[in-house]
Amino acid sequence: MTSQYLALMISVAPMMDWTDRHCRYFMRLLSPSASLYTEMITANALHYGDTDSLLRFDSSEHPLAIQLGGSDPVLMAEAASKAAQAGYDEVNINVGCPSDRVQNGRFGACLMAHPDIVAACVREMMAAVDVPVTVKTRIGIDDKDSDEFLGRFIGIVAEAGCRKFIVHARIAVLEGLSPKENRSIPPLNYERVYRLKEAHPDLEIVLNGGITEIQQVDAAIEKVDGAMIGRQAYHHPYFLAELEHHMHPQCALPDRIEVIEKMIPYIEGELQQGERLGRITRHMTGLFAGLPGARAWRRYLSEHAYRENASTDVLREALDAMPVAA
Ligand SMILES: Cc1cc2nc3c(=O)[nH]c(=O)nc-3n(C[C@H](O)[C@H](O)[C@H](O)COP(=O)(O)O)c2cc1C
Repeated sequence: MTSQYLALMISVAPMMDWTDRHCRYFMRLLSPSASLYTEMITANALHYGDTDSLLRFDSSEHPLAIQLGGSDPVLMAEAASKAAQAGYDEVNINVGCPSDRVQNGRFGACLMAHPDIVAACVREMMAAVDVPVTVKTRIGIDDKDSDEFLGRFIGIVAEAGCRKFIVHARIAVLEGLSPKENRSIPPLNYERVYRLKEAHPDLEIVLNGGITEIQQVDAAIEKVDGAMIGRQAYHHPYFLAELEHHMHPQCALPDRIEVIEKMIPYIEGELQQGERLGRITRHMTGLFAGLPGARAWRRYLSEHAYRENASTDVLREALDAMPVAA
């Protein structure tokens, strides 16, 4: 395995309203090599909306994938093309989100029942861009909860040219469960993902769902090509640093205070452009999770960062507010 391949084994999941560009800038300081994913951006938004602001990112965020939502191959290809021109390293299709809004737009997890549509998107998108076009999906939907169903979906989409699948190892229940419930109630089934890899050794398969420990990552990458981490990376961002250190022992664990100091010039630049402090620091509240003082840090940021004209002083004050020096 090349070191570049190793470096790409870990990724941070796309998470709506969470993995915005500020969050990703912060996570990159903790994990120099993990692949980062944007929140889902719809192909419609890129067609009709403010493309520059939707696609904006900092060059430090590489390797960086954009996640697109949609099911119209032409619109998806147009969106992929804009993303590739903007410099994204991978274009990912969302075939895993169960929300009603997404289902009304006929994309997300409900597309698992329509592999031909996903395949058509993959073909058009691959014709439009040189970067990899990948798919993030579930292991099934509703009563379609079998190796056969997943294998057929993957087979048809792989036939169209997709080489990498990120699989959230739960089914999505399209009616009756909220998106949040759909991330915890359907049971995890890692074995199905491992069997998928056995059946398709030529495809890159990434396991996602419920990973909170380094040992789980080790176990996953014995069987598949990578592990994608969502909520644990957001709520305990230092986990990313520990994982990086574990995967690349030559990469020293960063000091949390130094990470905050590195955020300050970035935040000041953003504030000058009119961003509000709390929009950035909201992603940093978990930095001390599990350590003494974590609560005071979180609380101070939550209470002060949204005040009118709040400056980076709030970060220094939040550190001072912690009862024990971190
Ligand atoms: C707040 C939040 C927003 C999410 N938004 C997206 C999204 O935009 N696209 C997507 O494919 N998955 C989304 N997900 C699902 C995650 O990418 C991931 O598949 C899921 O959280 C399971 O991984 P985990 O157990 O490591 O968190 C979201 C999850 C959360 C918690």
